[in-house]
Amino acid sequence: MTLTDHRPVTATSPAADSPDEGRTWWRHAVIYQVYPRSWADGDGDGIGDLPGITTRLPYLKDLGVDAVWFSPFYTSPQADAGYDVADYRDIDPLFGSLADADAMLAEAKRLGLKVIVDLVPNHSSDEHPWFQAALAAAPGSPERARYLFRDGKGTDGQEPPNNWQSVFGGPAWTRVTEADGTPGQWYLHLFDTKQPDFDWTNPTVRDEFESVLRFWLDRGVAGFRVDVAHGLVKEDGLPDWAERTEMLHSGEEGEGEHRRAPMWDQDGVHEVYEGWRRVLDSYGAPDRILCAEAWVEPAERMALYVRRTEMHQAFNFAFLESLWHAPQLRETIAHSLEAAALVDAPTTWVLSNHDVIRHASRLGLRQDRRRPNGIGADDPQPDAEVGLRRARAATTLMLGLPGAAYLYQGEELGLPDSTDMPDEVRQDPAFVRTGGAEKGRDGCRVPMPWEKDAPALGFNTTGATWLPQPASYADLAVDQQQGRTGSTLELYRSLLATRRELGLGSAHLRWLEGYGDTVVALASVGADRADVAVLTNLGSDPVTLPEGEVLVVSGDLDADGRLPLDTSAWVRLAD
Ligand code: GLC
Repeated sequence: MTLTDHRPVTATSPAADSPDEGRTWWRHAVIYQVYPRSWADGDGDGIGDLPGITTRLPYLKDLGVDAVWFSPFYTSPQADAGYDVADYRDIDPLFGSLADADAMLAEAKRLGLKVIVDLVPNHSSDEHPWFQAALAAAPGSPERARYLFRDGKGTDGQEPPNNWQSVFGGPAWTRVTEADGTPGQWYLHLFDTKQPDFDWTNPTVRDEFESVLRFWLDRGVAGFRVDVAHGLVKEDGLPDWAERTEMLHSGEEGEGEHRRAPMWDQDGVHEVYEGWRRVLDSYGAPDRILCAEAWVEPAERMALYVRRTEMHQAFNFAFLESLWHAPQLRETIAHSLEAAALVDAPTTWVLSNHDVIRHASRLGLRQDRRRPNGIGADDPQPDAEVGLRRARAATTLMLGLPGAAYLYQGEELGLPDSTDMPDEVRQDPAFVRTGGAEKGRDGCRVPMPWEKDAPALGFNTTGATWLPQPASYADLAVDQQQGRTGSTLELYRSLLATRRELGLGSAHLRWLEGYGDTVVALASVGADRADVAVLTNLGSDPVTLPEGEVLVVSGDLDADGRLPLDTSAWVRLAD
């Protein structure tokens, strides 16, 4: 592949000092994901909550991020840790109340942090009043038409309407019992049985969600992370699909043709997002944003979600899925920037979230295969030291790239996944639905360690935790890393401060030649400053740094001042 440089998208990339800068904050923002169950627990019941979060918000200000994205805190039976919403306009008592949400928003505003909330439009909880009404109503009723109810196949309809599987394993259809006690229709759920999919061809569903957007925008949120954004619209007729339903599996290669999976990335989703964009734009400046969780390939298809009339951002999962392999990383970076530029959008970067193995563990696994869904005690274990070293290098690379970046709580501490959790405590529906074949996502969702010597490592004052914290978390607690030179927390702080000061997020990228195949070497080029080299060495030969001021290094340089294996550096280049 020939790497060409990537110019900024001039039409909408205001210079760092232009008056438009505040408006388009999202083009280069760093956004920190809080998983409310596991960040800070005010009432001591073992599950995090909004009052706990509000007390800890100054930590994020000090860390140096621009915005916070909250995974769902809405009313929910918690069948999928809150991604099964029973009331989109209220807070689950586990997390507090609407008044607590308002207090959190006020504190975030005081600190200058923007707040993005999670929106889960593909499905509701089966305990949502609409679904309860659908169950009580007859086949063919308007109540049923808000979801995807269908008659079964076979004699007496005892076979599901099609062969789709759930992302979490098992069938994607569940049969209901009608009001008169007879076996009845089936409903579609791409995820758990307790997460029925809406029918997005129904205008009532569309109106409802636009109203939910307004509800949160009126409370002052800066935007929405849109869950399963590529799933809302299904192919007409719900045709069979024999393969497993995987979030990223967008298509199948046939003889000369490419068939998209009928449940993902259908063209009809775009109309929905155009409507949402109009709602957001009606709120004026600064921009309120939509960020798509769309596991879509190739990058050109994903770019369609971030056209100027739709969403502002989409997670760039290609970067997260990249193996620790320099040519693959270079290609992913180049391709991501090219695809986003086609539609005049910034790209985003992310390495960890609540659905994948944390990058400090993922990068410590063998790099010749795709990541598993969770790691159990009997599985091959990641190499913790190698994983952390690479994770620090990967983050240093990521935060040196133009565009927006997402961080997941605890990665700034270098937290690994919990890999020795007993099966009895696992809560991810994927674990149960695959009969334990997949360990699931609990390993990355363990409560944060704040203080080494406090109950629950400072997560609360009672010591209760909904998932056990691994022993290794004690030495990684915030109070152990704060102010300690070389700690992962201090590395993140200096990366974020330097990135902000030099405007790296709104720079453009120039590839640096001559570093060989095992090095990712690029320069961040800004309008009014010297270029900053961003180098990541994935090879065993140490790399001589270019001339200039070393700004940040993810590990130690060798005795000769060279960049060793699995280490990244930022160098302000001499003219
Ligand atoms: C998204 C969420 C994930 C959830 C799923 C179903 O992928 O990130 O946690 O299980 O959607 O809502």
